[in-house]
Amino acid sequence: MSMRFLVFSDIHGNIEALEALLKFISRKKIDHYLFLGDLVGYGASPDETIERVRRLEPLSIIRGNHDKAVCGLDAIETFNPMAALAIAWCRKTLSREHNRYLCGLPRGPLVVDEALTLCHGAPFDEDFYIFGEFDAAEAFQYLETRIGFFGHTHFPCLYAKTEQAMRGRMIEDDHCTVRLKKNAQYLINPGSVGQPRDRNPKAACAIFDSEESAVHFHRIEYDIDAAQQKILTQNLPPALAERLAMGI
Ligand SMILES: [Fe+2]
Repeated sequence: MSMRFLVFSDIHGNIEALEALLKFISRKKIDHYLFLGDLVGYGASPDETIERVRRLEPLSIIRGNHDKAVCGLDAIETFNPMAALAIAWCRKTLSREHNRYLCGLPRGPLVVDEALTLCHGAPFDEDFYIFGEFDAAEAFQYLETRIGFFGHTHFPCLYAKTEQAMRGRMIEDDHCTVRLKKNAQYLINPGSVGQPRDRNPKAACAIFDSEESAVHFHRIEYDIDAAQQKILTQNLPPALAERLAMGI
């Protein structure tokens, strides 16, 4: 049976980006939602973000390092000063109900079915950044399914491993499709919904179609101004607003 999965990650409390993305995919016949962590941190709408994602009833959802930190499961000192400020603010502002939801999120890796694994950073460490082929090679050693989805770096990319070779590519187009081969294993990052860092400020996501055996990468414009205004209104560091427009 054909299944279409929305794979998304790193919303970071940016409800404007999330809403634009959901509007964009509303005609794309999504069967299931797979979320790779970091609902909160950086952005000014953590409650709204959690509320909206919960309503999607994701088939699978795991925590990210910012979710973990807001829940007190990670020391705030391990974050850069701006991120730490946003985490402290989020701890204060988040409703009790949403805090409970956030703190109940499972840790990756999470095996969704015989073909799919979700992780925030890497299959062997939820906090590890896969930044290149060297990191990916290590991650493949721990991947027990054909396809692994990961987030955390906020860069859309895809690594393919066959018996002969392992190759990575960054996804640079706003819309592109990658057909997956049967005899290869994949590590795929859909990019970040709420804080892209590849100098393309548009919200990122991917749709995995199991029958086509293809991944469709998308970038979607959203109201960056509105997201920035909320960050400034909450007296969060202005740089967190500025970076959204630059995609860094
Ligand atoms: Fe993140």
